Amino acid sequence: MKIAVAKGDGIGPEIMDAVLRIFEANKVPLEYEFVDMGKWVFDKGFSNGMTPEAQKAIESLGLLFKGPMETPKGKGVKSINVTARKTWNTFANKRVFQSLHGVDTVFSKAGIPIDITVVRENIEDTYGGIEHMLTHDVALSRRMITRPGSLQVIRYAFEMAKQKKARRITCGHKANIMKITDGLFLDCFYEVAKEYPELKADDIIVDDLCMKLVTKPDSFDVVVLTNLQGDIVSDLCAGLVGGLGFAPSANIGDHISIFEAVHGTAPDIAGKNIANPTALLLSGISMLMHVGLTENAGIIENALLYTLESGIHTGDFGDKSKPSVNTTEFADAVISNFGKQPVVNPKPIMPNKPGTPTPFKLQQNAMMESKEEGNETIVGVDFFIESNEQPQSIAVKCERHGGVKFKLINISNRGTQVWPTGSVYTNLVNVYNVRFETLDGEPLNQQDILGLYISLSGNFKVCSSELLNQWGERKGYSLAQGQ
Ligand code: NAI
Repeated sequence: MKIAVAKGDGIGPEIMDAVLRIFEANKVPLEYEFVDMGKWVFDKGFSNGMTPEAQKAIESLGLLFKGPMETPKGKGVKSINVTARKTWNTFANKRVFQSLHGVDTVFSKAGIPIDITVVRENIEDTYGGIEHMLTHDVALSRRMITRPGSLQVIRYAFEMAKQKKARRITCGHKANIMKITDGLFLDCFYEVAKEYPELKADDIIVDDLCMKLVTKPDSFDVVVLTNLQGDIVSDLCAGLVGGLGFAPSANIGDHISIFEAVHGTAPDIAGKNIANPTALLLSGISMLMHVGLTENAGIIENALLYTLESGIHTGDFGDKSKPSVNTTEFADAVISNFGKQPVVNPKPIMPNKPGTPTPFKLQQNAMMESKEEGNETIVGVDFFIESNEQPQSIAVKCERHGGVKFKLINISNRGTQVWPTGSVYTNLVNVYNVRFETLDGEPLNQQDILGLYISLSGNFKVCSSELLNQWGERKGYSLAQGQ
């Protein structure tokens, strides 16, 4: 079986060399195709951080094992890591956080074991990076949460939870505030939960989740979240088990999967051969499990756990009274411990069952679409207009534009209603949201909306607009605070 390997930037080559040396010593039956990806490739003029040859190799092999890659600083440049995850639709980011014997934390000292798997949605949310300045004062980010995208990652999380016989699967969200976006994600969670009656499924608001992860981490098992919340919560979980040096990550897609550590390029220690290779090694072990190389994975993981138990450590963790080892020496120690069993949490050694990689060659992009329920109608429109006038004077002008089809419903500023009722204590910025709805209850069409747009633009700069859609009785838009 052949996989693509990109060593990455910063500490990437050092830790990748250490991990591949461990694989080689264990006779892991994998061949490697080294591909050009990273900041250094970007610097050569490849704007997505990879050469066309690298893209072709990864798309034909289906598996990428990668070191961390630096995101070039400066405006307009997207993260190479995020581009890779999104381009190949690796929709689920699985991160396993387990207490490791020998890695002291407040919880290990208190005898509280941690075994939490975070599944983070990997494509959508603010990571779409769809951002605009509406005026020089006001920036807007579009946060897309989709039904098919949510179902895809949530279904993966349930399937994984079933296989690992999880005690509990929890959806973390902020649906109390983001009722439409996080509300959709939460609805999808409970929709999928019906297919897995054997699993205890529940949900928790993300701020409460953070507090409970710190006070009762052993009460959680599998946690599934949207992208940004998942990113933050998973770093919190890394802190629970000893830091980023122990946080592996698998980006799972239908055709292509990417295995990498959670941490970055650690520029402060790059080139010194002192980085901790554990997170990348754990990611590599989960990749071996993924391709059915369970025996190699078991032997290497037991050797790693034994090494940690015996107090061998790089400079970023462990007993500071004992001298630390460097990256190469740490890898040597793991190799010398092949065949040994850790006292705590030894892994079973199951014979390899390498799966044959399914050949795939897509002819066109997959369209993910779910069935619409109820008739879609347009019942109004939100226009985001630039103005530094007071709400009442905006209302007077807007009402004139409504004509025979539209009624001005309300005006809000940063999501707080300021007309027809509001408070003089609400501070304003120079973008207002003026909401018009159909006057006579009749559905509207796009020409009606465009007519209003043109009319309104006589008085104001229209920065952005959104249709107010409705499916049957279900409104597809939020109300302003105070409406
Ligand atoms: P970072 O994870 O590289 O470093 C944070 C801190 O943790 C530093 O003090 C570093 O020395 C330490 N650290 C990280 N990994 C370590 C290891 N294996 N052994 C010992 N200490 C370790 O995060 P930072 O500094 O925010 O990002 C640096 C660069 O990495 C940025 O360009 C960022 O965009 C990129 N990055 C790439 C990621 C990826 O490739 N998946 C993920 C996160 C960041």
